[in-house]
Amino acid sequence: MCGIVAYIGTRDARPILIEGLKRLEYRGYDSAGLALIHDGELLVRRAVGRISALEERLEPALDRATIGMAHTRWATHGAPTERNAHPHRDASGKLALIHNGIIENYRVLKTYLENEGLQLESETDTEVLAKLVGHLYDGNLEDALRKALREVRGTFGIAVMHADEPGKIVAARRGSPLIVGVGQGEFVIASDAAAIVQHTPQVIYLEDNEVVTVSRDGFRTMTLDATPTTKKINEIELTLEQIELGGHQHFMSKEIFEQPEALRTAMRGRLDLEDGRIVLGGLTGVARELSHVKRIILTGCGTAWHAGLVGEYIIEELARIPCETEYASEFRYRNPILEQGTAVIAISQSGETADTLAAIREGRERGAMALGVVNAVGSTIARETDAGVYLHVGPEIGVASTKAFTGQVTLLTMLALMLGRRRHLSQSDTHNYIRALDSIPAAISRALLLSQQTREIAERYLDSPNWLYLGRGVQYPVALEGALKLKEISYIHAEGLPAAEMKHGPIALITDGMPVVMIAPRGAWYDKIVSNIEEVRARGGHVIAVATEGNDEIQRYAEHVLYVPDVPELLAPLLTVIPLQLLAYHAAVLRGCDVDKPRNLAKSVTVE
Ligand code: G6P
Repeated sequence: MCGIVAYIGTRDARPILIEGLKRLEYRGYDSAGLALIHDGELLVRRAVGRISALEERLEPALDRATIGMAHTRWATHGAPTERNAHPHRDASGKLALIHNGIIENYRVLKTYLENEGLQLESETDTEVLAKLVGHLYDGNLEDALRKALREVRGTFGIAVMHADEPGKIVAARRGSPLIVGVGQGEFVIASDAAAIVQHTPQVIYLEDNEVVTVSRDGFRTMTLDATPTTKKINEIELTLEQIELGGHQHFMSKEIFEQPEALRTAMRGRLDLEDGRIVLGGLTGVARELSHVKRIILTGCGTAWHAGLVGEYIIEELARIPCETEYASEFRYRNPILEQGTAVIAISQSGETADTLAAIREGRERGAMALGVVNAVGSTIARETDAGVYLHVGPEIGVASTKAFTGQVTLLTMLALMLGRRRHLSQSDTHNYIRALDSIPAAISRALLLSQQTREIAERYLDSPNWLYLGRGVQYPVALEGALKLKEISYIHAEGLPAAEMKHGPIALITDGMPVVMIAPRGAWYDKIVSNIEEVRARGGHVIAVATEGNDEIQRYAEHVLYVPDVPELLAPLLTVIPLQLLAYHAAVLRGCDVDKPRNLAKSVTVE
């Protein structure tokens, strides 16, 4: 989704801004733009498409500016055209503004501005804001921005600068992330730490409705009504190496293959193998309350929601606490019943997904305990929840989520074990699960050896326009996740279903040679799924089975078998999902798709 980078200092701003935009590319965008102030003049260049198209428009003369801002836009209001791209200017042409988020009352503000005699050139809500700030400008940019933002309903991460005050950038946020990198005599403001980390590890996180002004001499922060605030300088943990490709062709493949190590890190210090205990430091403050929780609601979007569905099975089974998983976008508007003793747990890689954030706010508002299972350290969800656990799987850059999914399932399993042990789970059962969890990274390494076989399968069915993914029980969400992976990066239509539901409609789709992925590891549901496999075969479908190593019998029913190591049934999703990630990855590569930046998608969806 949209990306913001702004720079003020003593170095050339242009390369810093372009490099920053490239680091944010993974979030998804459809146009880009840049503004610089040079010799008291504001210069703006914008282009549709990739950042390279913008670079072609940057003449060498632009190289001497030491203050500027840049943006990648993911269209919400108005098509991805040059006119709609950011930065937007005010009527004087001296003020430039970039914005992430949505100004909900932009129509009212637009009418007001038009009545004041101002003309708008684009269809965007952002231009309305730029014109409004310019209209209120009276020689002090900070004041003008604060006044304007007091009139705004909606969400924003904003940076603004003015040619008459060439020594400052003013930025603000509400519901959209914005981080200020604090260097030596320079500042980099960005919507994502990935654009800051090569310049400085020192950052400040803005709160909602907080405004920051940076100049070459320092920074100050205040609220929208001008009350000064104090900020702590934090160190970001992200290293440049972590966000580079490390020899892989795509971030997605890098992230698939680093899952063993990522999960080791996620579990480090949290599995006590000797005493058979789970230690989740982030929950210590709420441990007592959590022990008495009566109901758990897991909420998230996309892949995080799938991880929640897996977690629901595991929590109910191991902790015997009623648990349900809700789409965050539905939960927030549904007038949910939250009695005392309910915990709402937000699951989010980015920690910035607008719907998930709103769901957690709704939960808190109604008195529920709000917890987070989040990857991005210092993100808004992490900061707004009562307590939580970080995934610690490292930054995920590929839009299609992979290691965050396995990280989320791992953390939810640890949570289930911790809660289960406090209720009814025996010491020895807990201990066995902990040992099994500890063995998962090595088992994933074995499952990753399926890469070549999944590539061959992808090649064989590359022209099939429809795929089905079927699973039962705890493998049903894995079917959903496998189908999502395939469709989001290779644009092949795929549907995931609980296997028994197939006969209530989708079975009509099965024709000769249609690929049907059946997730069939050893366990309680195995015999049932074999019956479903027979139903598919009887109609000419080609079964690609994901099964447990040593199960030779399944070869009788399936065209292809992808074998994963044998682990306890509840932990098997951590393995069965691996060949499905690989299958989707190879299909997308073979079809020549832009794997890390699939069309129309965004990594972090900060609008509803
Ligand atoms: C977007 C991404 C998905 C992700 C979802 C939730 O749609 O493309 O990969 O699962 O958002 O994101 P979150 O950061 O909250 O996990």
